[in-house]
Amino acid sequence: APKSAASYVEALLASYPDFPKPDILFRDLNPVFADAVAFRAIIDDLADQHRGRFDAVAGIEARGFLLAAAVGYAANVAVLAVRKGGKLPGTVLTEEYELEYGSARLELEIGQLPAGSRVLILDDVLATGGTIAATSRLIDRAGYTLTGVGVVLELTDLHGRERLGTTAVHAIMSI
Ligand code: PRP
Repeated sequence: APKSAASYVEALLASYPDFPKPDILFRDLNPVFADAVAFRAIIDDLADQHRGRFDAVAGIEARGFLLAAAVGYAANVAVLAVRKGGKLPGTVLTEEYELEYGSARLELEIGQLPAGSRVLILDDVLATGGTIAATSRLIDRAGYTLTGVGVVLELTDLHGRERLGTTAVHAIMSI
């Protein structure tokens, strides 16, 4: 039988204690992206979850971009880039979200898709959920409909899913 996307993530996920600072256990998915068969498996899994129910994918800077570009191509839909504050020109929507120390901003350009377009948010990791919650507010304020969320890895002890209310969250692997 073909191996599941989850089995590739489980086999290839790397963990780095005390990176980028003490007491943080950094989860590195780059080995998954760096394996062509594993990468195809995770992209196909993310595209299949909500197949036929999204008109666009929104990738969150930075690693969400890698996923959104590939899923957008595979599913033949539009791609939106949700960027860190100050990177986008023109008229942008801004949402703040909390970091461990202080806050950060995410932004989305307005008017890129027809009103009511169905958007799937993609990112590599769901941790506290602050990043995806801010992105879902951007999608809502832009006049789009949030179809759901897809992530490669969910860190369950941070309870990010609970912050996302009734949103359908698909995680390839949860730890
Ligand atoms: C990481 C990760 C997610 C976010 C998840 O990005 O790629 O986007 O954190 O955390 P949360 O669920 O607690 O909000 P990071 O902020 O490190 O930015 P980067 O992708 O630009 O490195």
